[in-house]
Amino acid sequence: MSKVRIYSLAKDLGVDNAKMLEILDGLGVSYKSVSSTIEEDTVELIKQILEEEARDGAPAAAAEAQPQTTPPAQAQAAQPQVNQGQAQGAQPQVAAASSPTATAEREPQVAAAAPAEAEVPHRAPVVTIMGHVDHGKTSLLDYIRKTKVAAKEAGGITQHVGAFEAQTSKGRIVFIDTPGHEAFTTIRARGANVADIAIIVIAADDSLMPQTREAIAHAQAAKVPMIVAINKVDLPQADAERVKTDLTQLNLVPEEYGGDLVVVPVSAKTGEGVEDLLEYISLTAELEDLRADPKAPFSGVIIESRVDRQAGVLATVMVQQGTLHVGDFLVVGEGYGKIKAMTDSAGGRIKEAGPSTPVQVLGFSEAPASGETVLSAKNEHAAREVIGARASDRRDSENARERRKLTLEEMMGE
Ligand code: GTP
Ligand code: MG
Repeated sequence: MSKVRIYSLAKDLGVDNAKMLEILDGLGVSYKSVSSTIEEDTVELIKQILEEEARDGAPAAAAEAQPQTTPPAQAQAAQPQVNQGQAQGAQPQVAAASSPTATAEREPQVAAAAPAEAEVPHRAPVVTIMGHVDHGKTSLLDYIRKTKVAAKEAGGITQHVGAFEAQTSKGRIVFIDTPGHEAFTTIRARGANVADIAIIVIAADDSLMPQTREAIAHAQAAKVPMIVAINKVDLPQADAERVKTDLTQLNLVPEEYGGDLVVVPVSAKTGEGVEDLLEYISLTAELEDLRADPKAPFSGVIIESRVDRQAGVLATVMVQQGTLHVGDFLVVGEGYGKIKAMTDSAGGRIKEAGPSTPVQVLGFSEAPASGETVLSAKNEHAAREVIGARASDRRDSENARERRKLTLEEMMGE
């Protein structure tokens, strides 16, 4: 009868969420997120599968419990289809996937999946906060920043970085702190998606407002998972139920109403619910399986930039892939710069920055626009070559456009 959430079942059974989802996939059970609920029957099936796996010494956890010495190739060949057939009959896809290779390799599923991908490490989620005016976006970020970011001694060049990193019990989370919907509009307009998850803040005393709907539309267009934070629940006039009903009318059905939308009541004033919100962010990120290779060639996106009268151009760059080092040459559009100094979001000077790290970079000669992609070049010569090629491409397409216009005018003139 009773339903159970995927992540709490995973916790109870002592397996990670990824494993749980793998089993559900094997069973052909559909779900939207790790916070989706599953039926009791399915729970029983999962328990059986795990028990059988433990007994057969199949995957990860079980393999460690009873380490079957890796059989050589012949053993695998000898120990055969018959087994596989039985196992398959007893327990569906999951068993089939894990049986033949299981004994040969310690973590069969992983090995069976694309091995190259599995080697790419996880990265922290990048979260953006959107919502109607005065619903408490800044206050919520301030609360998270105050409680989760240890301030470092300022390195001298930063006042404000448009993104910050929070350390939580569930790992690092990166928040984009641009006012309004800039992170979605300006940045997305240039074809870059920086955010992995969108938090829609809705004040419990005001419910859905025009900009809330706009924010929801942005998140939907960007296809990023959404989490709703119902803020200001400390107020006596707070009415979280009304917010949920209003959301339902937009076809966004909160989980408690049988839907898939994660809704977390919070107060940026008292801090109530903020831990839960961070936990939901981590769960969502886990499901998204976000990865980036710190050893890959660097690429990133400009979050914002400004000109400081003393320091010069300060640009906030989100590292998306690879690692950025002081001294690297960066190419943005048709400009380039050499990183003279880098500051992390807590104001500390750093020498290098890996994936999902927002950094303030000093070294551009002109302020790059938000949403521009950034690449690195080996040296100044290479950087100049890249921008030279870009400039000539641009001229070519401008000329082509000009020619098209002329022909069109000629045609009209005829
Ligand atoms: P804009 O940046 O103008 O769109 O607003 P915002 O969404 O960033 O809202 P902001 O954080 O500036 O908060 C607006 C007002 O609501 C401020 O007066 C806050 O003190 C108040 N506020 C924010 N969160 C809470 C909360 O959880 N409880 C209460 N009681 N007040 C809150
Ligand atoms: Mg604000």
